[in-house]
Amino acid sequence: MYMYPFTGYQPDVPKVTHGKGIWLFDENGKGYIDSTSGPMTVNLGHCHPDIIAAMQDQIKRLHFAYRFHFRSDEAEQLAARLVALSDDNKGYAFFMNSGSEASEAAYRIAMDYFRIKGNNKKTLALGRRISNHGNTIQSLTYGDDRARKVNLLNKVIDPAVSDLRLPPYYDLHKPAGCSSDEWLRVCLSETFETIDQIGAEHIACVFAEPITASSGGVLIPHPDYFRELKAGLKARDILLIADEIVTGLGRTGEWFNMRKWETESDITIIGKGLGAGFTPISGVMISKQIGDSLASLSPPHFVGHTYSGNPLSAGVALAVLDTLENKIGMASIRARGSYFGRLLQEMLGDADIIADIRGQGLLWAVETTLGRQRAEEFVQAGHQQGINLYPCRLSGKDGDALTFLFTPPLVISESEMDELVGRFSRVLSRMA
Ligand SMILES: Cc1ncc(COP(=O)(O)O)c(C=O)c1O
Repeated sequence: MYMYPFTGYQPDVPKVTHGKGIWLFDENGKGYIDSTSGPMTVNLGHCHPDIIAAMQDQIKRLHFAYRFHFRSDEAEQLAARLVALSDDNKGYAFFMNSGSEASEAAYRIAMDYFRIKGNNKKTLALGRRISNHGNTIQSLTYGDDRARKVNLLNKVIDPAVSDLRLPPYYDLHKPAGCSSDEWLRVCLSETFETIDQIGAEHIACVFAEPITASSGGVLIPHPDYFRELKAGLKARDILLIADEIVTGLGRTGEWFNMRKWETESDITIIGKGLGAGFTPISGVMISKQIGDSLASLSPPHFVGHTYSGNPLSAGVALAVLDTLENKIGMASIRARGSYFGRLLQEMLGDADIIADIRGQGLLWAVETTLGRQRAEEFVQAGHQQGINLYPCRLSGKDGDALTFLFTPPLVISESEMDELVGRFSRVLSRMA
């Protein structure tokens, strides 16, 4: 019997049999708009013909070669392509299978980097409040997904380490009467006071999503936040790891969202949209300077798993990048995002139930005035209306607002966006 995520959970959700573009269809032929590309993953839509063709070609030619035994063009080209697209300090990339693995690998690289410099004490990774950087035991220590780690605390996760949370900067959280600039100062002071109390000599790296996506419901930082965070970390010899697992590869209308904040991370992790739902693949991109220094290690690093950098997944990811670059393009994602944002405002902005609408590119959230305890009812109502809805985990000032994420496939057309927002609007009016 297939084991669903929760014991006793026989989900009352549709059983789907096929998909096309933004649609998934159930066994009775009913269509559902996949309003979030699954978990922000199916970025080219379902069953994109170009990727199917590339995948068939790849699987016929070469689907697996173990990276310790053979080199392959696919992994080497994918690394080179990502480094070129980053257009910043990055010089190296390697591949894993999930975002969580990429996250932990980045942490290990950060520790290795300091070890090579003769510093064995820098072993801590810190994250921020309202964050998710993975679901392995280690990545849960620097993420803030309390529900996922609750049964692990005091057993395999030391709460004293896992509670070392830095404040993120979000306008929505600022106290009444406080300007955005003043709030930025408050957040940065608390950040660096926390770091200095722990002792920078113990901290290898800080993880941050450039825009907090599903955990908080598209929380966009102050434009100066990342520049100042990076400067403060650099002064303390701490690496900044950008978690672009959701925001990267076009989701926000940029190849990498850190560019928007004019900040270069030391390490960037990517996942989800890299395989676009066709194959599990994630990546770790490392600055040239850190990568060069790691190369002096022999062997350079021990991170990786059986399937890391396999030619099939790397070939699929190359085809995904081709389609994104040559058939979609960042400018068109930005244009679609502007249309989508306007539509959300026009169709929902005046409703009493709506607290906030925010986003960038095709990464949007609609925060309601309702509590998150109603999430399940809305998901059910969404299915009735033929739209899949994704409630965020820790949204709103008190963390319990009912907020929906909207991250449709990047190929969505204007008429499909009209249909998506129309269906959501019907759900809202029935449930309000
Ligand atoms: C920002 C972020 N980082 C890391 C992860 C972990 O990725 P995975 O589920 O592929 O392990 C997720 C997954 O939702 C995520 O949203």
